[in-house]
Amino acid sequence: MIIPRPRRMTTAGGSVAFREDLLRLMPDDPSLHEEGYRIDVSPAGIELTAGGPAGRFYGARTLSQLGPAVPYGTIEDRPRFAWRGVMLDVARHFMPKTFVLRLVDLLAEHKLNVLHLHLTDDQGWRLEIKRHPRLTEVGAERGGFYTHEDVREIVAYAAERFVTVVPEIEMPGHAQAAIAAYPHLGNDPSREIPVWSEWGVSEHVLNLEESTIRFCQDVLDEVVELFPSTYVHVGGDECPVTEWERSPAARRRLAELGLRRPQDACAWFIGRMAGHLAEHSRRLVCWDEPDRDPTPGTTVMIWRDERADRGDNEVILAPHTRTYFDYRPSAGPFGGRPAADPGGTTVRDRVLTLADTYAFTPDRTARGVQCQLWTEYMPTPELVEFMALPRMCAFAEVAWGSPGDYPDFLRRLDPHLARLGAMGVRTGPLIP
Ligand code: ACM
Repeated sequence: MIIPRPRRMTTAGGSVAFREDLLRLMPDDPSLHEEGYRIDVSPAGIELTAGGPAGRFYGARTLSQLGPAVPYGTIEDRPRFAWRGVMLDVARHFMPKTFVLRLVDLLAEHKLNVLHLHLTDDQGWRLEIKRHPRLTEVGAERGGFYTHEDVREIVAYAAERFVTVVPEIEMPGHAQAAIAAYPHLGNDPSREIPVWSEWGVSEHVLNLEESTIRFCQDVLDEVVELFPSTYVHVGGDECPVTEWERSPAARRRLAELGLRRPQDACAWFIGRMAGHLAEHSRRLVCWDEPDRDPTPGTTVMIWRDERADRGDNEVILAPHTRTYFDYRPSAGPFGGRPAADPGGTTVRDRVLTLADTYAFTPDRTARGVQCQLWTEYMPTPELVEFMALPRMCAFAEVAWGSPGDYPDFLRRLDPHLARLGAMGVRTGPLIP
């Protein structure tokens, strides 16, 4: 077994050459987890028993990863975390649909089951919203966007591979592309601002008017029609309050709403979206922020630290120290990229090694874990794939919940990378 390591594996010596006709699919066994499976290999053949359709899919993946010689014995496996995610930022640099589908295949190969698409940000709006067409007419002027038809294709392709696509629409910060499209969403409607062409956190944020809340809810109405996922992400991170402090209209709204500090307006905004999504039987996810208590009943995606203690709120762990794959995999030069980039224009200076990711030991109380592909410094699909792998392989073992010792992982990684290479996957350099 290469990736991930099974929870239980007994071998009896000897092996059988894998042939389709030796494989017998047994009736599902409800005592196995719905994503779990058991493989029994004997001279008589190979039996695959699963807890459900996803388990059958993962069992088949494992068989394909075992290679041509399947050892006699029993493999029993199931994932530790229900949410095993990968986030792709298509806002900073748009990624074509063909690459999104290819990434879904890579998730499936690694038994990961959530593709979180970061669809909007200061630098771009990448989802067609029929009720508000300027969002893409203006907001996607650099790069492109996904039509409803594209999204339906991506969602269906992912579902066939037991991957759920979770959309993210950022608010109330990281929303400059939306404000560029519709200035009345901003705090100074008399002023036209462009879709942002720099990286960082823009000061321009949504205003607090009821009409803006309704606009965002309209957008979410269209989002939930397109994405069947129970979870809908609304961002909520890094929302500067300078405009709310300065704007007389925002100050009036704060007083009207009984909000003491402008900082409290972000929580209020998110609470309004959570209520709206609940009416659609959906659950809100947002990034964790230190100056904001999580809204009850929402899911918090933790990125600044590795702790899972957020009261009663469900938690997804996405700590930058373990899971931000836009960070460089080595302090030295790698794959033709420079060791240092004083201008900070082509590569992040933070380092996150393969070993750092493999050493991630997520709190078991979390619902899940997720790795991130932010694309400020990854303009092409080729580069995203190159930066994602092999760290995504280490992450997959963490997410499945059975990492072993690191040298053993490296030994198993070797044939796995050869197999990915044979599939045409562009893996980055192995920098252990
Ligand atoms: C984040 O990295 N701002 C979630």
